[in-house]
Amino acid sequence: MSAAGAAPMRAVVSLAERAAARSVDHVALDGVAKIYNPGTRQPVEALAPTSFTIKAGEFVALLGPSGCGKSTLLMMVAGLEAPSAGSIAVGGKPMTAPRPEIGIMFQDPTLLPWKSAIDNVLFAFQAMNRPVALHRDRAAALLDRVGLAGFHDRKPRQLSGGMRQRVAICRALVHEPELLLMDEPFSALDALSRDEMNLVLMNMWEGRHRTALFVTHSIREAVYLSDRVLVMSRRPGRIVEDVRIPFTRPRDLAVGETVAFNEICGHLRGKIERMHRP
Ligand SMILES: Nc1ncnc2c1ncn2[C@@H]1O[C@H](COP(=O)(O)OP(=O)(O)OP(=O)(O)O)[C@@H](O)[C@H]1O
Ligand SMILES: [Mg+2]
Repeated sequence: MSAAGAAPMRAVVSLAERAAARSVDHVALDGVAKIYNPGTRQPVEALAPTSFTIKAGEFVALLGPSGCGKSTLLMMVAGLEAPSAGSIAVGGKPMTAPRPEIGIMFQDPTLLPWKSAIDNVLFAFQAMNRPVALHRDRAAALLDRVGLAGFHDRKPRQLSGGMRQRVAICRALVHEPELLLMDEPFSALDALSRDEMNLVLMNMWEGRHRTALFVTHSIREAVYLSDRVLVMSRRPGRIVEDVRIPFTRPRDLAVGETVAFNEICGHLRGKIERMHRP
């Protein structure tokens, strides 16, 4: 076969490989439940037995009322909290402790105040005992990509809230985690900054196609970002609805103005309101 013919063949294989990767379960929860303070007079049943899977490369949002166990679930997937029952597998291996191939982003950016923006991003490597200097160019490129060119050497107090969130996104992504876990990362931002951060996250995620689990209270944010939205009941939380979001990618914010988008949001809102009725 000529060299000219080889390239399209390689492209076909790589598409097939990509499709195969996307059909594999990256995250699998089987009967996972959580009771805090078991065996005491005040046990808290945070999460009822819950089972679901996330395919490799899928972006899944968890939507549910306050206190229904969303953060608890995320912490268990991250290996930071042990389930009281059931099992969690990530990449086919049981989750028993935190792993470097998982990136986590919390509600609060939790940057180190004495370190510059770029050193906060590089802290991801320091925390994993990996050489920092080797990754400086990658950290710088990421900061540029989220609109922070010229701010690499600023301390967190010299940055706005939205800029700090961008640094936190870069820190969560710089070591190219296979799985990204995010717990209401933008809830402290005003509506405009939040829209902008959704775009930043979307652009970065679409370039890499990592698997993502994203906790939010915002129906629109969940629908805009995700391939699937899982709706949770009140505590003890369980999944009551699993909605597939059909919009093609890349998406821009204009998708939020379409009838189909607003119908899905309306459906989810109705579901959540019905759960809240006494
Ligand atoms: N370490 C803990 N010890 C005891 N109870 C806890 C602990 N962490 C969480 N809980 C309880 O478990 C339940 C679920 O908490 P969790 O933080 O997972 O909820 P959430 O869905 O993330 O809520 P929010 O949307 O307000 O962040 C709550 O009733 C909470 O009080
Ligand atoms: Mg929470």
